[in-house]
Amino acid sequence: MQAAARAHANIALIKYWGKRDSALNLPATGSISVTLEALHSETRVRFDPNLVTDAIMLESGGDAERVSRFLDLVRALAGMEMRADVRSRNNFPTGAGLASSASGFAALALAASRAAGIEASPSELSALARQGSGSAARSLYGGFVEMQRGRDDRTGADAHAVPLLAAHEWPLAVVVAIIDTGTKSVGSTDGMTRTAATSPFHDAWVAGADADLAAMRTAIRDRNLERVGELTEHSCLKMHATMLGAQPGLIYWQPATLAAWQTLADLRADGLAAYGTIDAGPQVKALCRIADADAVTAALAQVPGVRDVRISHLGPDASLIADPWA
Ligand code: DP6
Repeated sequence: MQAAARAHANIALIKYWGKRDSALNLPATGSISVTLEALHSETRVRFDPNLVTDAIMLESGGDAERVSRFLDLVRALAGMEMRADVRSRNNFPTGAGLASSASGFAALALAASRAAGIEASPSELSALARQGSGSAARSLYGGFVEMQRGRDDRTGADAHAVPLLAAHEWPLAVVVAIIDTGTKSVGSTDGMTRTAATSPFHDAWVAGADADLAAMRTAIRDRNLERVGELTEHSCLKMHATMLGAQPGLIYWQPATLAAWQTLADLRADGLAAYGTIDAGPQVKALCRIADADAVTAALAQVPGVRDVRISHLGPDASLIADPWA
């Protein structure tokens, strides 16, 4: 009745921002991401007949209530009532637009379903993780990953991720410029609801997704970094434009965010291929060749307001691990 798992964070190149159903957490569009080797969550779950409530210890912060609701889904699947002892930690700041919900719920889905004795395929695990957090569905896989929108609105069974390329099939680096690690003011879930309800740009955002996804699939298949980069920056800016159009507008950027973004444009003007993306927080993540990662790091570290810079290679699938707290 116990299992532990590790899952890595991911960064979307083609963004997910909007749901078509919040009960099942079905995305309005597909999305495409890369999984990051350097950022991970480790989670241990033990179902215990002696517990009367879930005992949840999130060492790096996070929402215990949301974890408990997720465990209810696992209990329903397993046909049992037992409460669980959950312990989890991240090796990076939580809730600051570094995709902690992605790695967190992916690790939880894997550990909790194994601990509950559920035999689930990778697709089923990914669809389960989606119900914890949409981006978590992608963190079940390493390398380049596509989240499928799915067509089944009744069960959501086909709204799961699929692997596009493993990390070793196209080794790239992501350089993360950390600008502010404070928890963001409006979380992704609330931000998406507000955007869909009030932004006049939301429909156009959803309408453009299939073309962006198709173009990105081709660019990844061709290992065309310049094209992947252009599409990545386009999807990011279009998502933030949609957020800015909400009422009140959602502004996740800080001055250093824009300065870091400009630094990447300057690097490209000097012939270095580095492309940025920004999630629901101020951090800037740059995709580049591994050989260029040190130069990108040095340039971003000089931007006023950038506090720390981390390099990650592309990471592996989520996996079961020995209990890290044993
Ligand atoms: C901007 O997966 O955190 O990072 O499904 O409500 O938990 P919920 O949202 P979440 O949203 C991620 C938004 C994003 C873009 C992305 O990762 O695709």
